[in-house]
Amino acid sequence: MTPDEFREAGHLLIDWIADYRESISEKPVKSQYPPGWVGQRLVPPSDQPHLVTDVIADLDDTIVPAMTHWQHPDFFAWFPANASLSSVLGDLVSTGLGGLGLSWEACPPLTEVEEHLCAWFCAELGLADPWRGSIQDTASMGVFLSMVAAREHASNMSMHGSGLAGVDRPLVVYAGSTANTSVKRAVLAAGFGADNLRIVPLDENQAVDVEAMASMVEADLAAGFKPTAVVATLGTTGVTAFDPVASIAELADRHQMWLHVDAAMAGAAALLPEMSSRFAGIELADSIGINPHKWLGTAFDCSLLFVNDPRRLTGVMSIDSDYIPSAANAEFGDEVTQYRDWSVALGRRFRAMKLWMHLRLDGLDAIRTRLRRDIENAQWLASRVESEPEWELVAPVRLQTVCVRHRPARTPADDLDAHTAAWAKCLNDSGRALVTPDVLDGSAMVRISIGAEPTERSDVERLWGNLKWAVTSGP
Ligand SMILES: Cc1ncc(COP(=O)(O)O)c(C=O)c1O
Repeated sequence: MTPDEFREAGHLLIDWIADYRESISEKPVKSQYPPGWVGQRLVPPSDQPHLVTDVIADLDDTIVPAMTHWQHPDFFAWFPANASLSSVLGDLVSTGLGGLGLSWEACPPLTEVEEHLCAWFCAELGLADPWRGSIQDTASMGVFLSMVAAREHASNMSMHGSGLAGVDRPLVVYAGSTANTSVKRAVLAAGFGADNLRIVPLDENQAVDVEAMASMVEADLAAGFKPTAVVATLGTTGVTAFDPVASIAELADRHQMWLHVDAAMAGAAALLPEMSSRFAGIELADSIGINPHKWLGTAFDCSLLFVNDPRRLTGVMSIDSDYIPSAANAEFGDEVTQYRDWSVALGRRFRAMKLWMHLRLDGLDAIRTRLRRDIENAQWLASRVESEPEWELVAPVRLQTVCVRHRPARTPADDLDAHTAAWAKCLNDSGRALVTPDVLDGSAMVRISIGAEPTERSDVERLWGNLKWAVTSGP
């Protein structure tokens, strides 16, 4: 494709994306087609090029109808993953530039925009020097890297010898029972072993019970284990509960454990001064993960990983090679950041570009206003739920997640899970809205995660009507 052909096709596709976003509310939120439907309709790559108009026809006929529309105002499922159009433009610029950040030298702006943004976030979050940040693909990668760094820190860099096989005491990680599944995956992938992940019970606030964790640590020490790392969550995936980070940090510090704070979804709210108490103590952590690609609104993938002593991460991830020398051997030495030493991949996308464009083109006022709108909308919905006798809130609304159950007067307790599953399915299948059936304390409930970029109060009012419709229309 020549630049001129790109210009022509690009204009058509930008128009197409704008039209898609403008008309999205007319579509059913959830994909209406069975597995395999898309695959069957795709034409194999051909020897001769296709016209962009043919490709657009396929987008219209095959891709869009099968989409579950995350950017839809009636999307209340999982968590918000907003792809603000400003960040979409940034993504386009980043891939248009086509640079690959193997090293600072390979793409200097890629490194320096990332550093610039991370420094700004550090200041916003109250993370003073020596805290530094990086942009990873996902929060899962962030927690994995933190666990690897914690493992090496606790095992005296065992990776340079026989790895964990040569460690005299098994290394143990602690996390609350509702920590995201990425924590278990990270612990397994980092080689700790499932037997060495301690699942800590929760307190009455659905947060990690720090006293219980302290007792588990003592028991592990007495049994010859080495407490190594803790993962605390600010905004759990299920009910958006907040672990008491400051108390956990004290315990971690007492036992020289690495503390990773997972604020993947809720971290966006750290930009709101009135929410600062929710994030108290994060500066005491060793690493923190926040996903701009969730509620904040930067198109996936864009996940911030902050570390309070970057050398403990780069010391583990840095590998020297003849064609890409390590920081110590490169022309500019420590003068520049070599972000490949902050992650697993050698090649690096210019992810910072979409975050930069998002923040610059939308502006912080608009972003903060939207976050506050969502919090207020969640409170409004919670007040509606509480005002109806057959509805209940099953968890406090701490941010933008509203967890509900409908308990019809005549339904026996045994049938309640089936009723909940039925009305959630009825609503989701109808395409009127998308919510997440979930389980809390062994019983079914429905999570409503408010925060899609176009969702206004009127959409939440319509959702409330649709919830009431679904509970009387389900099988
Ligand atoms: C609290 C929390 N942590 C981590 C994750 C995983 O995020 P990612 O897809 O960026 O790995 C999620 C996603 O739902 C989450 O809610």
